[in-house]
Amino acid sequence: MTQETNEIVELIGEIKNDEADRMPPELPDKATLIDSLRSLKELYKRAVIICSVSLKGGTGKSLTAAALANFLTHLGFKPLLIDCDDENMSCLNWSASRTKYKDLLSSEMGADQIAELENLFPDTAVMGMPLLDALASNVKKYAVDYDFILIDSRPSLSAATSKIMLLSDYAIVPVQTGKEELRNVHKFLGHYENAVMLRGEDRPLPGALFVNRDNPRTKLSKMTKKKLLEAPIELMYYHLSGKEIFKEAFGDGIGLCEIVECYGETKTKADELRGPQKEYETLATELLNHMVINLM
Ligand SMILES: Nc1ncnc2c1ncn2[C@@H]1O[C@H](COP(=O)(O)OP(=O)(O)O)[C@@H](O)[C@H]1O
Ligand SMILES: [Mg+2]
Repeated sequence: MTQETNEIVELIGEIKNDEADRMPPELPDKATLIDSLRSLKELYKRAVIICSVSLKGGTGKSLTAAALANFLTHLGFKPLLIDCDDENMSCLNWSASRTKYKDLLSSEMGADQIAELENLFPDTAVMGMPLLDALASNVKKYAVDYDFILIDSRPSLSAATSKIMLLSDYAIVPVQTGKEELRNVHKFLGHYENAVMLRGEDRPLPGALFVNRDNPRTKLSKMTKKKLLEAPIELMYYHLSGKEIFKEAFGDGIGLCEIVECYGETKTKADELRGPQKEYETLATELLNHMVINLM
């Protein structure tokens, strides 16, 4: 056992190796997911607002927000991705890389092929909004034109994160394993509960924690999850592993549900990438399904 695992044992007590093992949730197929997202959209009569929040930088907030906006685009919806991080405009960078990538490909294509390119790599609207004073009124304005608004927040527990949580309908919180991270999550949850209180009883803020860069077979992962199961935000069953291809895709402006199409030049490479892409799609389906169930 590593020092860190030892310390977590001290923190939360010993667990049997399978204690945090849960039954996998039943997930809808793609058509059913699309139907239920449509029903949610009809119920709201405006964009459903999703924020990607956490205490620390580097947990995967931006990757989560961009990948989910891209996934929703592939499901046929019209999302708007709003980047509120004034120091690290990762989603704007993601979008700029995407434009560059598509420009490069289309420079040698005919009209038919360009249309096909749009099908394979559709555009998602991304907007930078570093000035939070304008966020609430802007969100209200854009909510008329879009199906979903995804807000990528800052790595801080300043008024900014609280403001974003007050505005949103659903919160996604990427977390990592480990003792330090459990402390961060604990602190974050204090602020989350504060935001929930301010929203009042008739406006609860459902959300989901999911483990990013997870290695679910390790004791550290199991122990972290056992603790996270006590949180007031539900822990997703599925996770995202730490994989170079996810990092590469995010840097290149590619969605995580597009990696086979983008990087699978050979059959061997495509076969190799199907697992990571499926891993992402499964998590995204669990998140969206959880959101629908909690907002309807
Ligand atoms: N599951 C993952 N596997 C590999 N790299 C990841 C993963 N999640 C995030 N990253 C990378 O880690 C860095 C930080 O992620 P990011 O989403 O920008 O975090 P945040 O927005 O919380 O600061 C980025 O380079 C991103 O590509
Ligand atoms: Mg970020």
